[in-house]
Parts: sequence; C-alpha cells; structure tokens
Amino acid sequence: MRTMDFLQQELDELKERHLYRKLRVLQGEQQATSVIDGKKVINLSSNNYLGLATHPRLKKAAIAAIEKWGVGAGAVRPIIGTMEIHESLEKALAQFKHTDASLVFVAGIAANRGTIQALIPEEEDAVISDALNHASIIDGIRLTKAKRFVYPHKDMQGLKDALKKASGSRRTLVITDGVFSMDGDVAPLPEIVELAHQHNAFVMVDDAHGSGVMGPHGEGTTFHFGLQDKVEIQMATMSKALGVLGGYVAGSLPLREFLIHKARPFLFSTAHPPAVAAACLEAIRVLEEEPEHHQKLWENTKYFKGELERLGFDTGVSVTPITPIIVGEAATAMKFSDLLFVEGVFAQSIGYPTVPEGKARLRTIVTARHTREELDKALIALSKVGKTLALLTT
Ligand SMILES: Cc1ncc(COP(=O)(O)O)c(C=O)c1O
Repeated sequence: MRTMDFLQQELDELKERHLYRKLRVLQGEQQATSVIDGKKVINLSSNNYLGLATHPRLKKAAIAAIEKWGVGAGAVRPIIGTMEIHESLEKALAQFKHTDASLVFVAGIAANRGTIQALIPEEEDAVISDALNHASIIDGIRLTKAKRFVYPHKDMQGLKDALKKASGSRRTLVITDGVFSMDGDVAPLPEIVELAHQHNAFVMVDDAHGSGVMGPHGEGTTFHFGLQDKVEIQMATMSKALGVLGGYVAGSLPLREFLIHKARPFLFSTAHPPAVAAACLEAIRVLEEEPEHHQKLWENTKYFKGELERLGFDTGVSVTPITPIIVGEAATAMKFSDLLFVEGVFAQSIGYPTVPEGKARLRTIVTARHTREELDKALIALSKVGKTLALLTT
C-alpha cells in the first residue's frame, strides 16, 4: 500500500548508510562457540558473562517450576499474577544487593521506563543523565514531563552545572549506567553520589552490565565502590550475567511499594512465567555458591583485553569484559564483522544511533566460558582481518 511506502524508503536509506542489519540466528545454545547462521563460530557478542544461560542448575530449576506452577503467570502482578516464586526472587535480589526490598519488572527496559516515569513525573521535577546512558533510560526520561539535563559523558563539572540549574525542583534524580554498555567504562560513582547528595538529589544506577560482573563477588558497580548504602536506587537486569530475563530495582521498602502502585510497566504487563523467576533465583544462588565463574570471567577479560591492546587495536576506555574495537566508519565496522565471520568469529558491528557517528566499532564481550584456546583463535582472526582492513600495521 502506497501509504506505507516510507517503510521501504527508510530501509533503503539505512542500506545506503551501511546501517541495515540482517538478524543473525543462533542455532542451539548460547555458548562460547556457537552455531550462527549455519556456521560454527567463536561467539564474542553475547551478554551471557558467566555462562549461566545454559547452566544445568538453572535449567533444572526452570523445568521444576514448570512442573509445579505451569508455564504462565496468568495475570499482571497487581491483580493475581504475583506467585510465591516471584516474591522469593525479590527477597533474594534484595539480599544480593544488601537492600531492604526489590521489585522485578519483565525486562530491564521496563524497569527503567517505569521507575523513571513514576519517580519524577511532573514539570516541577528534574532528571540529570549522562550523555551515554542506555536507550531505556532515555526512553524513561522521554516519558516524564520533568526538566531534563544531559551532562557530557562522565563530566563532573557538567553534572555540577546541571545540579545547579535543577536546584529548586521538587525532586531531582541523577541517573547513570554503572558500566556503560557500548564502551565498557565505569561511572565515577563516588563523585556522582557526593555531588548529587550535596544538591539534595537522589541517585539511580543502571547496573545491567555491572551486576554479576563488578564488585568482589559480582554484586555490582555500587559494591565495587563500596557505595551500596549510598545509592538510593540500584537497577539491574537478569538478562545478562544472570543468564535469564527481567529487570529489577533494589532499594528501600517504600521505594518498592511506591513502584508497585505507580510504575506503569509493572501495573500493566503480565508477570514473568514461573520458570523465569525460578531460573533467576537459581542464578543468584549459583553466583553465591560457585565463585569460579566470576573469577574466570575476569581472568579471561584481562587476557583478551591485554592481547587486543598488544595487537594495536583502539579499545577505547574499557575496564570491563565489554571491549570495543573502535574503527570509525560504520561501513568499516560492518566489513570487519563480516570478514571475521568468514574466519570463524562472531563480533557484532555497532553503528549510529547506538554509538555516536564516526565511532562505529566491533563490540567484543568475553565470558567465563571461553577457553584460552578459543580466545587465542579469535585473536588470530582479529589480527588477520585487522591487517586486511589496514586497521593494524603489518
Ligand atoms: C545499560 C542497560 N540498561 C538496560 C538494558 C535493558 O535490559 P533488558 O535487556 O533486560 O531489557 C540494557 C540491555 O540491553 C542495558 O545494556
């Protein structure tokens, strides 16, 4: 129909700008070496940091939950979708984050949208956000009428200026990713918390990529800095290091109760199937009882990051298992990814609007499941393609 001609026109535009993506399809489990589009490749693009997505204990917990409670929750949480397993999970998450309470949403994106919109809905409120915060935070901000201030990435003078401009607001929320998802760097939480509190603002940290990764046992970025008692709202997902699905917010009991009454994605979206909640609960237990996954993740991270730098790639400012290889143009990043695939390695290219124009990259993530042999094979392929594309000198 002609009224929808814009669809193809815009898709063609994306192709011209090398931003058109074909979905890759994973055949089988999410593993360090996976079959993708019919080819066995070393997988450097999954967020399955600890390998829990395929852990036998999680699978067993999910199957047992299906046998016991069925496959669906049957209602939204506030009607009659809250099952015992949901509450058990929320108690475990609160314990994990050393908070009084927590509340689970169906996904991290729902947790961010719902929490931000509920906390600072009105024009007399203010929200202050890092320029590189995740899209789900940006969406949450778009849903409020609050005055918004975006400070340049990790720029504390910028934050200070924004706090001054926001002074006099009814409520001020300062929000930051803990680990930034495209660059793998970490927010300067001590300074952020201090400045926010000096200006009577409260802090929310999105630790989607920090939970299970940062901190002595994977508790998160707030724990990495010893700030778990100072950050009012610790948000994270269970879809990455925990290997399953779901977002959550950990904090005070009034925070939980407030969100139960006001967060729209909580109010108006069906609860997780019991199998999801049971697998998430088991993931937290595994994290506590099997510290070897967390240790191995960091061992692999240090090795791989060190070798990429030694080869001469521009890996930006990452200090976490997310290591970008910055190449500049989207077309180069796409070519890099395609040639690597031929060499048996999958690393997704990322371009605008996910990262700024001119900062296109391959985004690599190592997991606890990669063996040294797999990492070495990947490094050989990266080096070969890097030279072919003149990103590395021969
Ligand atoms: C920083 C950050 N926040 C939130 C999300 C959304 O989480 P989910 O995938 O659970 O919706 C993501 C994941 O893509 C993320 O990287």
